[in-house]
Amino acid sequence: MISLAAVGFTHPNGQRALREVSLAARAGERLAVIGPSGAGKTTLLRLLGAALRPAEGAVRLLEQDPWAANAAGLRALRARIGMVHQAPPIAPRLRVVSAVLSGRLGQWSAWRALASLLHPSDLAGAQEVLARLALQDRLFDRCDRLSGGQLQRVGIARVLYQRPALLLADEPVSALDPTLADATLQQLVAQSESTGATLVASLHAVDLALRWFPRIVGMRDGRVSFDRPAAEVSPEMLAALYASEPASEWRRGEATPARVEPVAPSLGRLD
Ligand SMILES: Nc1ncnc2c1ncn2[C@@H]1O[C@H](COP(=O)(O)OP(=O)(O)OP(=O)(O)O)[C@@H](O)[C@H]1O
Ligand SMILES: [Mg+2]
Repeated sequence: MISLAAVGFTHPNGQRALREVSLAARAGERLAVIGPSGAGKTTLLRLLGAALRPAEGAVRLLEQDPWAANAAGLRALRARIGMVHQAPPIAPRLRVVSAVLSGRLGQWSAWRALASLLHPSDLAGAQEVLARLALQDRLFDRCDRLSGGQLQRVGIARVLYQRPALLLADEPVSALDPTLADATLQQLVAQSESTGATLVASLHAVDLALRWFPRIVGMRDGRVSFDRPAAEVSPEMLAALYASEPASEWRRGEATPARVEPVAPSLGRLD
């Protein structure tokens, strides 16, 4: 379904973000990617979304090599991949309903897409996905009048409406309270179960990752440090994954702690 083989990626500014990352997932599998800030989770998800091209190694997405396809082929592939962004790229004056319907723009003809922005065509469909995220009353609100957590759920509603074969979610619940975070992940999981979509989500909340995802990929310094069933992830593995950098990393800053304790990440949120 998806595979990365020895993938390396360096951002244009020279920042090396991924080294020798190999990862494969079957159709319908659910993976959570966890790890400290800067570990490379977003970069990994962007590679899986065919938004970034790897400098080294090979990527296959939905049985295709995205970078061997022509422009139309790449567009068609991207239309089957849904991405919930860490910061949703939604035009501010857009209405909620249009933001949700835009999830299928890539699958519609140019005329249908344009017409749907002028006159929302599938209100019932948009309403149905918004209701799953407790946003049924917000259909005609402007996106720039929503709270951060509401906007984050609009980004998720858009991808649920898209019904992609590969569902990628980068910190999808980072702006939500604990109850909503749980209910929202439940919806992403339910969608993957009902459509057979592969679901890959990055999460800072380790407890949520362990609760909702059968498979956990731990990333650190651009590498996969473990890839295990959730039941086999131990507190020691988590402590090592999130252990602070050596003191030299701190010396540049003013607030140098006398001693850096490893974080105990098993309880609640870490960010
Ligand atoms: N657009 C970019 N340009 C240059 N460097 C980048 C860019 N995006 C990320 N990086 C760098 O690549 C590395 C990995 O970043 P990435 O955003 O993938 O980490 P992350 O695990 O998603 O972190 P976080 O948990 O904070 O979201 C970091 O060192 C970061 O500084
Ligand atoms: Mg990130």
